[in-house]
Amino acid sequence: MSLPPRRFLFLLSSTRRLGNTEQLAYCAAHHLPVPAEQQWLHLLDYPLPDFVDLRHRGTFPTPTGNAKLLLDATLDATDIVLIAPLYWYSLPVPAKLYLDYWSAWLRTPNLDFRQKMQCKSLWAIVVSSGERAEAQPLEDALKLSAQYMKMAWGGMLFGTGSRPNDIQFDAPALQRAKSFFLTPAGN
Ligand SMILES: Cc1cc2nc3c(=O)[nH]c(=O)nc-3n(C[C@H](O)[C@H](O)[C@H](O)COP(=O)(O)O)c2cc1C
Repeated sequence: MSLPPRRFLFLLSSTRRLGNTEQLAYCAAHHLPVPAEQQWLHLLDYPLPDFVDLRHRGTFPTPTGNAKLLLDATLDATDIVLIAPLYWYSLPVPAKLYLDYWSAWLRTPNLDFRQKMQCKSLWAIVVSSGERAEAQPLEDALKLSAQYMKMAWGGMLFGTGSRPNDIQFDAPALQRAKSFFLTPAGN
């Protein structure tokens, strides 16, 4: 019996459109195995209210609006791909806020978020204007987050660029993109 096709959720989190991370992600997605399904969402299109830590003050409310849309997309995916420019050696705010919401969803009654996330994989596609070593804190944070969630860590595809389209000149990154989803990093 064949497995159902994997469903990749691509979450764009740059604060500008069609930048380097987005372009590198399109490159990688182009080489996904054929039956895989794709959903693309730009976090700028689904702004979330500021996160408020309610952990020790009762329960988190049932998600509504954009939070519900992102939650449903997250739960529907087998693979979650965060597409993020490096901002101050870390994630840009839209991506970080989305992850903060995981803390709420983990504690929202009747969601079973933790259990449902366990069979999924987390991936990252990151571009910065500096060296790959400077993206290590971001990679470590996501890898640890995957571990905490008992998710598989797929790996980080890294490229270099500053101005939009610079990524088109990073030939090694474009080459790595071709096999990125075929060779998961594992845990
Ligand atoms: C607020 C901000 C912070 C940044 N911080 C870093 C950084 O810490 N290290 C770095 O190498 N590049 C940094 N950059 C540069 C971006 O990572 C780079 O321009 C990247 O190509 C942007 O991706 P995008 O085109 O997909 O938006 C920063 C850019 C901005 C706007």
